Amino acid sequence: MNPVWIIEKKRDKGHLSQEEIAYFIAGFADETIPDYQMASLAMAIYLNGMTTEETANLTQEMLASGATFKWSGDAKQVDKHSSGGIGDKVSLPLAAMLACCDLQVPMISGRGLGSTGGTLDKLESIGGFRTNLSMDEMRQVVEKVGCVISGATPELVPADRKLYALRDVIGTVPSIPLITGSIMSKKLAEGLDALVLDVKYGSGAFMKSLSQARQLAQSLVDTGKRMGVATTALVTDMNQPLGRMVGNAVEVDESVAALEGEGPSDLMEVTLALGAELLVSTGTARDVTAARKQLQQTIDSGGAREKFAEMVTIQGGDLEAPRVVAPPNDLVGKTAGYVSQINSEQLGQAIISLGGGRKKQGEALDHSTGLEMLVRLGEQVKADQPLVRVFAKGSAVDDVRMAVLDAIEISEEPVKRNPLIVERFE
Ligand code: URA
Repeated sequence: MNPVWIIEKKRDKGHLSQEEIAYFIAGFADETIPDYQMASLAMAIYLNGMTTEETANLTQEMLASGATFKWSGDAKQVDKHSSGGIGDKVSLPLAAMLACCDLQVPMISGRGLGSTGGTLDKLESIGGFRTNLSMDEMRQVVEKVGCVISGATPELVPADRKLYALRDVIGTVPSIPLITGSIMSKKLAEGLDALVLDVKYGSGAFMKSLSQARQLAQSLVDTGKRMGVATTALVTDMNQPLGRMVGNAVEVDESVAALEGEGPSDLMEVTLALGAELLVSTGTARDVTAARKQLQQTIDSGGAREKFAEMVTIQGGDLEAPRVVAPPNDLVGKTAGYVSQINSEQLGQAIISLGGGRKKQGEALDHSTGLEMLVRLGEQVKADQPLVRVFAKGSAVDDVRMAVLDAIEISEEPVKRNPLIVERFE
C-alpha cells in the first residue's frame, strides 16, 4: 500500500477500506508514515467526512495502537464522557454514585481544553490527589473502591495523543469523524460494557449549534454500538455554566455539596439523567424512574459522599482538608431587566486570565480562583444587583471585571428558557 494513494482517495471523496485505515494509523503510530502525510489525510477527512463504517474503523485502529483494560469478575464497567463545558463537574459526583450501584467506573479524564475546564485540573485542587496513576494502579483502585478518575497513561491510545496534537496545529479539530475517533478510542480502551455521552451545545460548548451537537451525538452512538458497547447520548444545554461554580477548588466544593444533597438543580438534573442511562443500559435498573431513585438513594444515604472520599484517599488526597479559595468580589450590574444571554466561553476565558486555566501547555494553575454565578438565564434582576462573585487574589478581579460583566446580557423583555436536556440518542 502507498500512503499517497490513500490520501488521494479521501481527497477525491472515496471511501477508505478497513485495511487502508489500519495501514495508515499503524504507520502513523510507529512513525513509518510521517506527520505531513497524516496531516494531509486529516485535512481530507475534515473536508470530505467519513461514513459510519469508516469512522468505526478509524476508532478501532486508533484503539489498536495501544493497551486496553480487560476486566474479570461480574461487575459491569461503565463511564460517562462529556464533550466539555463551563462549570461541568458531573464526573465527580457521578463516578461515586455509580460505584454505589455496584458498577465499576474506570474513568480516564482530561485537562482543560480551550475555555472549558478539565476534570483532572479540578481534582488536583484537592491537596495530594494523584491523577497520573499507572494502568495497574487504576485497576487496583477500581477493584477496591469501584471508581477511579485519572489521566490517560502513555500506553493508552498513543495514536490519539499524536493525532490530537497534530490536529491542534493544522486546523482539523472540529471534524465529526476525527472527534469521534479520538473520544471513542480513549473511552473504549477502558474496556466498557456501557457508555453515556453528554454532548453539549451552546455558548460554553465546543459545538456552538444544536445541529452540530446532534451530528456528533449520532456519530458517537453509532460508533460505540458498532463496537459492541451499549452507548447512548444526551444533548444538553451549555448556554450558561452548569451549577453555580466555575473554576477548580470551587467546583470541587460544589461537587461535594452535591454529594451531600445540596447540589444546584441543573447539576443534579444532568447528573441523574446521565447516570440513569447507564443503570438502564446495564440492566442495573429496569427503567429511568427506578434508576433515578437508586441514584438519589446513594446521596440520601451518604454512601456516595463516603465513596468519593474513599476514592480521593486512595488516590493520595484528603477531601476533608479545606481547599484554598481566593477572596470573593461581587460584580454588580447596571441595568434592570431579564438575563437574556450568558457568554459562557467568555467566563471560561476569565478563569484562564485569573490563572485557573492554561494559556500554554503544561502551565501550573492557581486552583483557588473561580466564579460563582449569582443569576441564571431568564432571571429578573434589579439595577445594582450583584451578578457574579469572582474569587481572585489582590487586584486581579480588575483584569476580568469588564469581560465578566459583558458576558451577561440583560434584556427588557422576559426570555424563554431552553430545556436543559434537549434530546436523547440511542
Ligand atoms: N475531545 C477529545 O478527546 N478529542 C477531540 O477530538 C475533541 C475533544
